[in-house]
Amino acid sequence: MTETLAHRRVLLVIGGGIAAYKALDLIRRLRERGASVCPVLTAGAQEFVTPLAAAALAGERAHTDLFDRASEAEIGHIKLARQADAVVVAPATANLMARMAGGHAADLATTILLATTLPILIAPAMNVQMWAHPATRRNRAVLEGDGVRIVGPNAGRMAEPESGPGRMAEPNEIADALERMLGAPAGDRLLAGRRVLVTSGPTHEPIDPVRYIANRSSGRQGHAIAAAAAAAGAAVTLVSGPVALPDPPGVAIVRVETARQMLAAVEEALPADIAVFAAAVADWRPEQEAGSKKIKKDGTGPAPMPLVENPDILATIARRPSGRPPLVVGFAAETDTVVEHARAKIARKGCDLIVANDVSAEGGVMGGVDNTVHLIRRDGAVETWPRLGKDEVARRLVAHLAGLLAG
Ligand code: C5P
Repeated sequence: MTETLAHRRVLLVIGGGIAAYKALDLIRRLRERGASVCPVLTAGAQEFVTPLAAAALAGERAHTDLFDRASEAEIGHIKLARQADAVVVAPATANLMARMAGGHAADLATTILLATTLPILIAPAMNVQMWAHPATRRNRAVLEGDGVRIVGPNAGRMAEPESGPGRMAEPNEIADALERMLGAPAGDRLLAGRRVLVTSGPTHEPIDPVRYIANRSSGRQGHAIAAAAAAAGAAVTLVSGPVALPDPPGVAIVRVETARQMLAAVEEALPADIAVFAAAVADWRPEQEAGSKKIKKDGTGPAPMPLVENPDILATIARRPSGRPPLVVGFAAETDTVVEHARAKIARKGCDLIVANDVSAEGGVMGGVDNTVHLIRRDGAVETWPRLGKDEVARRLVAHLAGLLAG
């Protein structure tokens, strides 16, 4: 087994459910991959497994109490919440998810979860009806909004006669999800010491206080690139238009609304080694600055709305006389003759690479989770990748950019 989690430290919160016995196996799997594991058991967990068993498998002491004199004196729960690379909650019971979503801190496990700034991965396990209940669905959405990653639950046989989703993900699936969340092992941090700037999402161009011009960009691809660059060890600034996505872990985020604000934030964030312009910037904005009053219907038909062009952020940065990032990457969303359009765009904008994708309605790229991209270089060379998840496109792009920067 390769030690894909070498030098990683995992704080493993074991919740009180029948799947707690699988958390013991998870400790073993994580250690096989080279991680060290610090177990924390809730009171409920101790009804199913003992702290002694968890400690024996982890090879270190298991923690159970918020007010534990020995450990408060030695390290304390806040330190416990810091001295690791990630927190894994397995099993995450319905009750534990509710307490996390509500920000409770009544015992050691929930206090750690509230105090930590580490990335959190949860492996829910509960009865099928409890998983399907609107309250759990709400809690799940809240946790996802807070940036918590979720693995499983799987469908299948459980302790009760019902079947359906609710069974905790298998220990190896949890370990795989943790690896994905943590990114490359220390030795392969392709962008360690590099600064990366990414734009993402749409821009909103106000017409009046309640209306705006926008587009269908979800920000998924840009956010995934920022996350992948951070996972590869870069210091990342993500300048994002309005999106409904959680902040990627380990990324400095600057939120903007309009194209002009985005350009100012980008200029502010320079210098960078790599700048990736994945935002779908609105090409035009209303000429008239939005005032504080809503434009009223007055019976004479729609109000005229002259538009003016927004600054081209990509071209502005790519053509900067000084302080141009060594690698400037643009995106091209096209509905036809994708590669030809992208070739023309690379010349027009002055960037080094264009990532072109087909956003015609059939592809479902805009707002979707998959993407088929072509990489077009300044010398005209084209590389076409198969249809991939946006996360995978991001990982490959980051590896490709690291190669270009190094070569
Ligand atoms: O010209 P077009 O909008 O097709 O170019 C797309 C590329 O240019 C994307 O990388 C996008 O982020 C960038 N862009 C920009 N500012 C604009 C328009 C596009 O940075 N005003």
